[in-house]
Amino acid sequence: VCVCVCVCVRVRVCLFLFTYEIAPVFVLMEQLTLKKMREMVGWPNGEGDGLFSPGGAISNMYSVMIARYKYFPEVKAKGMSAAPRLVLFTSEHSHYSIKKAGAALGFGSENVILLSTDERGRVIPADLEAKIIDAKQKGCVPLFVNATGGSTVYGAFDPINEIADICEKYNLWLHVDGAWGGGLLMSRKHRHKLDGIERANSVTWNPHKMMGVPLQCSAILVREKGVLAGCNSMCAGYLFQPDKQYDVTYDTGDMAIQCGRHVDIFKFWLMWKAKGTIGFEQHIDKCLDLSQYLYNKIKDREGYQMVFDGVVSPPDTSTQHRTPFRWAPLSPVAPKIKALMMESGTTMVGYQPQGQKVNFFRMVVSNPAATQSDIDFLIDEIERLGHDL
Ligand SMILES: *Cc1c(COP(=O)(O)O)cnc(C)c1O
Ligand SMILES: *[C@@H]1O[C@H](CO)[C@@H](O)[C@H](O)[C@H]1NC(C)=O
Repeated sequence: VCVCVCVCVRVRVCLFLFTYEIAPVFVLMEQLTLKKMREMVGWPNGEGDGLFSPGGAISNMYSVMIARYKYFPEVKAKGMSAAPRLVLFTSEHSHYSIKKAGAALGFGSENVILLSTDERGRVIPADLEAKIIDAKQKGCVPLFVNATGGSTVYGAFDPINEIADICEKYNLWLHVDGAWGGGLLMSRKHRHKLDGIERANSVTWNPHKMMGVPLQCSAILVREKGVLAGCNSMCAGYLFQPDKQYDVTYDTGDMAIQCGRHVDIFKFWLMWKAKGTIGFEQHIDKCLDLSQYLYNKIKDREGYQMVFDGVVSPPDTSTQHRTPFRWAPLSPVAPKIKALMMESGTTMVGYQPQGQKVNFFRMVVSNPAATQSDIDFLIDEIERLGHDL
């Protein structure tokens, strides 16, 4: 903390990035770190482009913009009327940011097609193929598929390799949203969950989620070099003069949709230097061990029922096998328990419904300082608070 504070105070004037000359050290840190991240994704020599953006929602938005530029570059100057009706595909479990991106970028939220998922929340590849064919028959042009490495609610990992096969067959842009799950690339034990990510055209990876880097710190990584710059550059004469005395490819600011950008890289760079890849690996492994511990404690415990193999629902003493109809009366339970948690000030865990499923607790472990006794406490506390309902 001390180091961060001192550095922030001393360099306050240049906590913005647009050109190399304004913040040379931060530009180099960013370049180095993005290359390292691309290597971890599995792109040869870490080649490609990337940027730190204000968050996963914006990184995802970049991916849609780049895909559109790659296939329909004329949209940059002429607008959407220069393109046919384009459609985007994403999981029905998608974070709402994709619909937002569809609306904001002029595709229209109706042209964001939702893909069915299996019991564990993973996209069903056959459904993708069927919907691509269907869209083509309707005269639309399928552009972009978003696969998720670690969905927001279920933590589901889509089958990236199978989705990549379909994208190659139909020539679609494949984006992998690893906002949550990207951190698993640091773990030798868990990175297989993202197998196939190296086949993606672009990847979102938020160090500010699973890896515990303070907000804001999200990266958009692009496999093909040059598309990001092609898509966004405007070559403003007052910042990005081409005849500077240094290599102007270090003037990375023109790839962004922002003008000045906050320096998000420094804290991440410092953390990575301090903890090492090994440190991040231990961090990730610890969090996943704790969620496994929670799962094991709850799966056979009376009063709890798994929403599916891996997510937890509120206590309930009725019979084991419930139909959707009999779930319904349980809907108010989790909100009540959460309110009691907050009133007693002991803990706080979010809840939500999903499809047919009534409100359940969405338990996420991202703090490696959490312990098994914290998990024990949580389970007992939910039971204690729910006891008199
Ligand atoms: C959180 C999340 C996002 C949005 O990230 P922000 O940094 O909050 O904008 C996008 N996709 C997934 C899968 C997420 O979990
Ligand atoms: C991709 O899908 C995931 C969930 O499956 C979602 O969280 C994310 O916002 C989506 N992003 C884009 C760009 O579609």
